[in-house]
Amino acid sequence: MFKVAVIGCGARSLAYAKPLVDSGEVQIVACADPSWVHTKNMLDYAKIDEKTIRYYTDWQDLLDSEKELDGAVVATPNNLHHQPAIAVLKRKIPLALEKPLTTTMQDSEKILDVVRENRSQLVLGFVLRSAPFYQIIREQVDSGRIGRIISMQADELVMPGISSVITRSPWRRFAEQSGGSMMEKSSHDMDLMNWFAGGRPETVSSFGGSLLFRPNPTLPENCLDCPAQGTCLYYKKPQFSEAAGDAVLQNSLERDLDRCIYNIDKDVYDNQVVSIQYSNGILVNFTLAFNCIGERGGRNIHIIGSKGRIWGNIDSNQIGIHENLSNKTEHIAVPIVPGGHNGADNLHALNLVKMLKDSSCRPAQDAYAGYLSNAVCIAADLSIAEKRQIHFRYRANGYIDLV
Ligand SMILES: NC(=O)c1ccc[n+]([C@@H]2O[C@H](COP(=O)([O-])OP(=O)(O)OC[C@H]3O[C@@H](n4cnc5c(N)ncnc54)[C@H](O)[C@@H]3O)[C@@H](O)[C@H]2O)c1
Repeated sequence: MFKVAVIGCGARSLAYAKPLVDSGEVQIVACADPSWVHTKNMLDYAKIDEKTIRYYTDWQDLLDSEKELDGAVVATPNNLHHQPAIAVLKRKIPLALEKPLTTTMQDSEKILDVVRENRSQLVLGFVLRSAPFYQIIREQVDSGRIGRIISMQADELVMPGISSVITRSPWRRFAEQSGGSMMEKSSHDMDLMNWFAGGRPETVSSFGGSLLFRPNPTLPENCLDCPAQGTCLYYKKPQFSEAAGDAVLQNSLERDLDRCIYNIDKDVYDNQVVSIQYSNGILVNFTLAFNCIGERGGRNIHIIGSKGRIWGNIDSNQIGIHENLSNKTEHIAVPIVPGGHNGADNLHALNLVKMLKDSSCRPAQDAYAGYLSNAVCIAADLSIAEKRQIHFRYRANGYIDLV
């Protein structure tokens, strides 16, 4: 049995603990999180007896005490990724690190330095690359049916439950801790765009802001005093999906659940559009919008190629593909795989087992993929702040200056 530690035992940790334990090849031996309530929730969810783990409130104490770890999961808030991640990697322990890599270019480069020095095994939480929906799109694009990619349109239309998480979570609603909404919510999508484009992002332009959940002096601070009960989707309890981790997400939000989504203090955007131009000429347009419910909500993608197009909505479990020469459209059914993120979560977590079994295994969702995604998210927010296009200047080592 591989001995694995979990650092940060909030909502997301559930999506690792359970499949790892269920694999029958991993024993969670130690956990670090200042909240025992969250840790206990994770242990219960993964059916781990609390007597079989050593609990620490501080990840540094865990790493100082646990001398025989085979692997680790780091799922702390975004601005707290780099320190435990670097400490784990310096011990040459394979790591599943949640996305985004970090919240700044500098901290990301510190991780990259350590990864390169140690030839580290690291899988970043870009779970969507494992989703059958995106796997099939990738296969179809690689088959050449739509020719070479010319441009891509994509969006993430966030449902009310998660819109509430972003705008009410103790750390997600402040850009300093989460890196902003684009980074927290759509670093996945920026990674997918980079993955499909296959080139280097070169120029980014973005517009956005808080267009929806703006302060409203006619509403009270607290939902319980609000006349909008019954008409506001955000009255007290947001709507959550059944995805793993939602129960603990509610726990972590408990102290802010009653606070008006419009009036709560926050500085993250709720709407943003990003355009990217790649070194190989590919163009991207991406929209992030909150408060989206119903048909065609969630994630949509449309890739336009030199010989045809491919498109789909991740929740429809269907992909359309049109070939220009035959002028025919085919609809491909996407297999429904149980688990969070449209079946991706369990497959993703098992990347850690693969790394533990094979010291040469280095998943493609690596630190540099995280760095590129981060660079796009950071450039997008900079573009808004400075009202200009942001250009990527690559150094010889692949690190980027945003100018
Ligand atoms: N890959 C995905 O699809 C996906 C989905 C959701 C969240 N995430 C990422 O997972 C990470 C955690 O998100 P979450 O939803 O679990 O948030 P959360 O708020 O539910 O959990 C974060 C946990 O970290 C703990 N924590 C805070 N400071 C800590 C410290 N110094 N040491 C150890 N633990 C500490 C908190 O007590 C909490 O239990 C974030 O980086 C988030 O972006 C990824």
